[in-house]
Amino acid sequence: MNIDLIEQHVHGLLGAMTGAATTAMVALGDRLGLYRALAAGGPATEEELAARTGLAPRYLREWLSQQAAAGFLVYQADDGRYELPAEAAAVLADEASPAFLAGGATITRGWFAGIDRLAEAFRTGAGIPWHEQDPAVFDGTERFFRPGYTASLTTEWIPALPGVADRLAAGGRVADVGCGHGVAAILLARAYPQARVYGYDFHDRSIQIARERAGQAGLGDRIRFERLDATGYPADGFDLICLLDTLHDLGDPAAALAHARKALASDGAVLVVEPNAADDYTANLGNPLAALSYAASTFQCTPAALAQPGGVALGAQAGPGAVRELAADAGFSRFRQVAQTPVNVVLELRP
Ligand SMILES: C[S@@+](CC[C@H](N)C(=O)[O-])C[C@H]1O[C@@H](n2cnc3c(N)ncnc32)[C@H](O)[C@@H]1O
Repeated sequence: MNIDLIEQHVHGLLGAMTGAATTAMVALGDRLGLYRALAAGGPATEEELAARTGLAPRYLREWLSQQAAAGFLVYQADDGRYELPAEAAAVLADEASPAFLAGGATITRGWFAGIDRLAEAFRTGAGIPWHEQDPAVFDGTERFFRPGYTASLTTEWIPALPGVADRLAAGGRVADVGCGHGVAAILLARAYPQARVYGYDFHDRSIQIARERAGQAGLGDRIRFERLDATGYPADGFDLICLLDTLHDLGDPAAALAHARKALASDGAVLVVEPNAADDYTANLGNPLAALSYAASTFQCTPAALAQPGGVALGAQAGPGAVRELAADAGFSRFRQVAQTPVNVVLELRP
């Protein structure tokens, strides 16, 4: 045994435990509005933060100390205040910032809550239906992907699909398949006021929340959300069909793409956005986000897919090559990667 290597693994796991603990503290701060209170009111002592939030100062002292130790807050020794610098506020306090991640971090609550059920699934091989996940998974998924979609969907990804933005601007039809809480459908309806926007998802709770969100955004009459399977929505000649971080969650992704091919106008496009992954598995293991993505895949994507008819589970790190093969089998003749972010690869499929 190499003692240095043992020590290295101990430090590796301590680092991972610290990350998990800090994520739990971020979820707490997000839930209690502590980052927003610090961002809005400026540096504060525990008593000042307690006065701003109505929370107990003794608990706040521990939270503030942990967040300072974690490096998110700066402790000002001269006046005993804690500062949330603007750069940290962009990640932790400002839900509209493209760098906002505190919301996505809350997804880990759902994974911890699901360990018992998942351990049983490992023993039986059975799937876990999406709707039986902890609600933190649904909310965390929405909040993890929303900043990237807000920053890029209608400003970069759709403009990268020749002709599509013009068609939507002229009143074209777009379907968001596996729409979740409706984030992308709402962005589409806002960006293309003439377009007819449809959101489909087989998860009742998600469709209800999507309808509420559209109502709150004043778009309730412009977007139609329906509880339908990825193979069951009307094949109505859509100009654009989106599958955003959804294809790998489906039990039969081949059938979903074959249906999209049928449902598409002859010169329409399918936009498939998938978690960023390299086709080369060994290389992918070196991707800095791979450990997080394989965890997401283990806790939510793979069990969700295994619970569905078809039972194919691509996994969240299948890579663009796997989508290319499925697309060709589904009758798409053109396939192109049009963009990439640290989180996503963006793929265009054409008949
Ligand atoms: C990871 S979430 C992504 C949601 C949304 N597109 C987003 O990016 O925020 C995957 C979504 O696919 C939906 N889904 C999974 N299997 C489905 C199926 N067979 N038909 C329709 N929707 C499905 C789930 O209910 C969930 O809302």
